[in-house]
Amino acid sequence: MVERTLTVQVARIARQTPEILSFELAHPMGRRLPGYRAGAHIDVHMPGGFTRQYSLARDAGAEDGASSYLIGVKREPASRGGSHSMHMRVREGDLLPVSTPRNTFPIREEARHHILLAGGIGMTPLLAMAQALTRAGADFQLYLFVRSEEHLAFADALRDPAIASHLRVHFDDGDASRKINLRQLLAARKPGTHLYVCGPAGFMQAVRHAAAHWPDDAVHTEYFAAPADAAGGTGKPFVLQLRRRGITVPVAGDQTAVDALHAFGIDVPVSCEQGLCGTCVVDADGEDAEHRDFCLTRGERVKKVALCCSRAKGDALAIDL
Ligand code: FES
Repeated sequence: MVERTLTVQVARIARQTPEILSFELAHPMGRRLPGYRAGAHIDVHMPGGFTRQYSLARDAGAEDGASSYLIGVKREPASRGGSHSMHMRVREGDLLPVSTPRNTFPIREEARHHILLAGGIGMTPLLAMAQALTRAGADFQLYLFVRSEEHLAFADALRDPAIASHLRVHFDDGDASRKINLRQLLAARKPGTHLYVCGPAGFMQAVRHAAAHWPDDAVHTEYFAAPADAAGGTGKPFVLQLRRRGITVPVAGDQTAVDALHAFGIDVPVSCEQGLCGTCVVDADGEDAEHRDFCLTRGERVKKVALCCSRAKGDALAIDL
């Protein structure tokens, strides 16, 4: 689908937890919105000039259109402005520009079993996946890790018997005997099982350790932010070889590949600029790249590269532009 910007109207704001509000976004004229598959997210352009990505928290039910988009926004105390803007400045009836949905975290067709692991607000894409998997009659389990019952968002959707029968919730402050041990949970992998993970940095790291022995292409992650130890987008200088144009573009050490292309007048769409969202991914000789993204699998990295953060391993990187 070609990505474009649409204007949606905030149809309903609901408090889900002390820190999380849900926003239901609808077409201002009541028409259907572009459809999507579970795991998709949209960019929301909010008051104050901020743009943030939010996962769609509900299965659209059909790919040809959606009656509305549902997102959950946690107010982060260290917010650079995005979640604060949504909580404090957006009201029901307001119009907001959003991107059409984009999906870098899809349900894998080849999987025979699905394990969905979410920490806190990371539940939003996984709730949509659970609904889609229910609809497909697939074999899945949804595990949610939250601080306490009070911090459990979208409780109504989770009470749906079709979801509840696949759900286990771990409360940090709960009964020790009912807590979920990640290492035990992921110790053995049934063949054909795929793991989908979304949550805050500490949770992602704990899952990565517990699933270190899983095949890379069976573990799918959606990060909110690049981990604190991420390398960023700068490093040694190199040259981008643009195969379609037949030209080369030098990338300085203090530039990202995207910066160098933009300075050359070549437009590459970007959104998160942290290697999370997949907007800047292009086909490339991926084996020549030093990949620094958090959205491509090992298999995808053979043929693709995220230009906002990744660089050449050596002196040059050929890309399909
Ligand atoms: S702009 Fe989001 S991955 Fe590059």
